[in-house]
Amino acid sequence: MIKLHDKYFKPFISAKEIDDVIQRLVIEIAEDVGDETPVFVGILNGSFMVVSDFVKKYPKPCEVTFIKLASYEGVKSTEDIQRLIGLTQDLTGRTVIILEDIIDSGNTLAEVHRIFENEKVKSLKIATLFYKPEAYKKDYKLHYVGIEIPNKFIVGFGLDYDGLGRNLPEIYQIKETQHMTNLVLFGPPGAGKGTQADFLKEKYHLVHISTGDVFRYNIKNETALGMLAKSYMDKGELVPDQVTIDMLNAEVEKNTDANGFIFDGFPRTNAQAEALEKLMDSKDSQINAMIALEVDDEILVERLLSRGKTSGRADDADESIIRNRIAEYYDKTAILKDFYSSQNKYFGVDGVGSIDEITVRLSAVIDNL
Ligand code: IMP
Ligand code: MG
Repeated sequence: MIKLHDKYFKPFISAKEIDDVIQRLVIEIAEDVGDETPVFVGILNGSFMVVSDFVKKYPKPCEVTFIKLASYEGVKSTEDIQRLIGLTQDLTGRTVIILEDIIDSGNTLAEVHRIFENEKVKSLKIATLFYKPEAYKKDYKLHYVGIEIPNKFIVGFGLDYDGLGRNLPEIYQIKETQHMTNLVLFGPPGAGKGTQADFLKEKYHLVHISTGDVFRYNIKNETALGMLAKSYMDKGELVPDQVTIDMLNAEVEKNTDANGFIFDGFPRTNAQAEALEKLMDSKDSQINAMIALEVDDEILVERLLSRGKTSGRADDADESIIRNRIAEYYDKTAILKDFYSSQNKYFGVDGVGSIDEITVRLSAVIDNL
């Protein structure tokens, strides 16, 4: 992964792949051109690398020239194309092949056609290394296309993001979600997980996703996923992991500009941890840490019993029920502790002390990720 200005990019097309594609374009074009001496016209700035590699491979005599246009601002194509350097030689009667690094909206190409409108060239053909079909809004024919790519911003091999990245020999693609801190938060009943989650959410601008809340929300609002989940619950069956993951996915999708997520109540099994990993991966992200609040059993029992006195929650009133809940927690989370430990992502945090003391300990872990 690389960072240019404020954005992250991931490797997308290797230098070798680019080289193979250019070689293929050279063969196709050389065959079509035959014995003519073509004039290759590069569109600056982006095309300097593709033109250079292309003409080095071109097997027969050819001429090379450039025009310089500018249309992009940041990561968006603009309608307004500036003609910075136009044609500087007479191309009457010549076989002209435009060499573009990338064709996106086609606005630049429209300007190229305007430039050649009054030139009496013998033929004008368009070759481009990269082409984004979903972004293309024109109907000029593209005679030679190297690689069709999705409509996502790329850098490298001549292409830049606000001036940076042109020198990279391979292509990088912008990351769907920018850098996130994603936490899986654990704690036995009575550990103060809810209090700490609220604090972390504020301090790090994270979105707190509690599976319990997500379920209740989907069922209450009768979303398709909620109804599906309910149909299993009504039969007394466990809701399949995929349904839960689909709900979490919807929550993540709603918040793609978040700094990250706190997952609470999920995963509970190895299979779920793997599914969550896949979900994060599909968002170009990952789980950075499992943080577990560690509190001695006796202290938990004491805390819950005293909470039971004021809250009136039945499951907080009976000591043997409390002990069972705690035992069940350790039973269930042991597997996940192993799962995340094996990736060096498990962090146990001492959950005994004042709320402030514990938040300081949690922050120390997160600040170090
Ligand atoms: P168009 O005018 O929208 O077809 O865009 C063509 C020009 O925009 C290219 O010559 C590039 O300079 C720039 N461009 C389009 N897409 C990208 C991209 O993904 N990364 C970097 N530059 C791009
Ligand atoms: Mg260009």
